[in-house]
Amino acid sequence: MSGKYNRKDHLYTKAKEEGFRGRASYKLLELQKKYRILRRGGRVLDLGCFPGGWLQVAGEKVGPQGLVVGIDLKAIEDLSNAGRGDYQNVVALVGDMRDECSLQRLRELSPDGFDTVLSDMSPALSGIRFRDAFLSAELVGIAFSTAQQLLKNGGSFVAKIFPGEEADELFQEMKGWFVRLERVELGSTRKTSSEFYLVGTSFIRPNTQGEEISRIG
Ligand SMILES: C[S@@+](CC[C@H](N)C(=O)[O-])C[C@H]1O[C@@H](n2cnc3c(N)ncnc32)[C@H](O)[C@@H]1O
Repeated sequence: MSGKYNRKDHLYTKAKEEGFRGRASYKLLELQKKYRILRRGGRVLDLGCFPGGWLQVAGEKVGPQGLVVGIDLKAIEDLSNAGRGDYQNVVALVGDMRDECSLQRLRELSPDGFDTVLSDMSPALSGIRFRDAFLSAELVGIAFSTAQQLLKNGGSFVAKIFPGEEADELFQEMKGWFVRLERVELGSTRKTSSEFYLVGTSFIRPNTQGEEISRIG
């Protein structure tokens, strides 16, 4: 079995037992442990939120005073059916982040912006490495541009990406927008996947950017 794709691995089973929508929840929990990107009372945007594992983790971490807004091409089944909570603080939209109107819909739900922008968006994978890497980078580009519009000064950004030239370019482009920017491979990612996450903390909003860059540079 080792090295082969096993859909029902131990995290899949654990997620079922614990009432999470998917094994992806453990990736966000791992990121949270390392970077503390979700705070009580915070506002979180979750791009590519279906089937809802990250919405659950984020909703539980921000608590009733917080807000989590998700968006995906696919509709989320009512999260309260999962038996972990009522998730009154979670709103999930159906939409395509490639459409310009999506940004406006998200802005309307949290006009003052978000403390955390997450993207676990993934293209439909073809298995053709360079193609998948290109499409994934395109989605990360959209996620980063969304963060540039909606992330609050000092906020955090996380995006899944596949290795390739485009990922390296995005990493370079994003440097300077965060006090700390890292590429991280997670223990909870399937061993068969080459995905990793870009994690940026302490976002520097454009109007303060010149000042901050010279201060940290
Ligand atoms: C790996 S899944 C996300 C899993 C999620 N983080 C969770 O915890 O349940 C990736 C999602 O990205 C979504 N996606 C891909 N392209 C998108 C786009 N252009 N706009 C919105 N969502 C997109 C897919 O529909 C898919 O549901």
